[in-house]
Amino acid sequence: MTKNKKRVLLLGAGGWAREHWIDNVLPDFKDKLEIVGLVDINQGVLKESAYTLGLPKNLLFTNIGQAINKVQADFCIVVLPPHAHKIAYFKAIEKRLPILSEKPITDNLKDTIEVFKRIKQMRIKMAITQNYRYESPIATLKKVIERGRLGKIDYIVARYASDYRKKGSWDVGSVYDMDYPLLVEGSIHHFDMIRYLSGANCRTIFCTCWNPPWSNFKDNANVMAMLEMTNGVKAIYEGSSLAAGFMNRWHQEYYRVECEKGSAVIDRGDRIVRVYTRGKSGKQIMEEIPLIPAHPSGHHKILTDFLEWLDGGSAPETQIKDNIQSALMTFAAIDSKKSNEQKFVQKYIEKSTI
Ligand SMILES: NC(=O)c1ccc[n+]([C@@H]2O[C@H](COP(=O)([O-])OP(=O)(O)OC[C@H]3O[C@@H](n4cnc5c(N)ncnc54)[C@H](O)[C@@H]3O)[C@@H](O)[C@H]2O)c1
Repeated sequence: MTKNKKRVLLLGAGGWAREHWIDNVLPDFKDKLEIVGLVDINQGVLKESAYTLGLPKNLLFTNIGQAINKVQADFCIVVLPPHAHKIAYFKAIEKRLPILSEKPITDNLKDTIEVFKRIKQMRIKMAITQNYRYESPIATLKKVIERGRLGKIDYIVARYASDYRKKGSWDVGSVYDMDYPLLVEGSIHHFDMIRYLSGANCRTIFCTCWNPPWSNFKDNANVMAMLEMTNGVKAIYEGSSLAAGFMNRWHQEYYRVECEKGSAVIDRGDRIVRVYTRGKSGKQIMEEIPLIPAHPSGHHKILTDFLEWLDGGSAPETQIKDNIQSALMTFAAIDSKKSNEQKFVQKYIEKSTI
């Protein structure tokens, strides 16, 4: 249990910080958190979010470093675009401030490794809001697999497909102008899910990504990858930002886990987990599995775990030590695309530990 109210510095006031953290997550933590500072370079969104949160002017900042130096906080929450994460982390590390950050750790391999090494060296508590693991259908799917009724996992098929053809319709960061937008901003969630469902880290990844002529993205909007996990489970991943027909958008992704004795599936965008087996006569049997109750969002669960960690409890599952595995999968995928070769993800991990 959290003992006292924790003082939090929120870095980012617009975009996802506003839409999810300020409007949905933080109101549910009023008895556990006190916001002691809010930062955003955009004065307009800073003022609007401060008004919603009821924060006085002296707690508002447009500069990350100034805020971190001035405010007495117990931890910070980073909801800035990925290219601004590293500077925020390094300022927080200087002040020995624990960090709860949005994914991805950073937008490039070099910075991600640098951050990971520094956090480890300085022994700072840091976790990432890799939130999809905690959604009810996913938790249910995981439980079905763990119960072992279907035997061992053979392979996993994962599909994500959103219709973001119109410029601006995917309203996260600068996805239409950045390199590898789906891999860096999106696929990290799905790679993390493949790790979670398979119960293992990634051994190899072979990835291609591309940008069809009708795409409004500057860089590769679509991704396909073939993976092998360290426990031998294989996976196929399909990701599309340009889905003109069949959707599996955010929170409605398709996961099919093929096991020795049956398949466990979330496949129709209806968030229902179905188990398919064969009866004695060979007839297919389909069962709908009742959903396990979950927190209102994955962020609620991770923030709850993070607060307990600050109070001496165990670390959240998505602490940086674990999340580096998902983060480095995306950069191995990018390297695989560039070289047209399979990449060994654990070699990337080795680089981050020396
Ligand atoms: N977990 C999820 O499901 C999920 C969903 C959406 C976004 N995200 C993540 O949330 C983070 C933020 O995404 P977003 O779409 O809100 O980004 P964004 O580009 O909209 O930026 C968020 C806010 O940060 C401010 N900002 C940018 N640079 C700054 C700087 N140097 N100093 C101070 N403020 C600065 C912007 O003015 C903006 O208000 C990203 O890491 C993104 O990947 C996660």
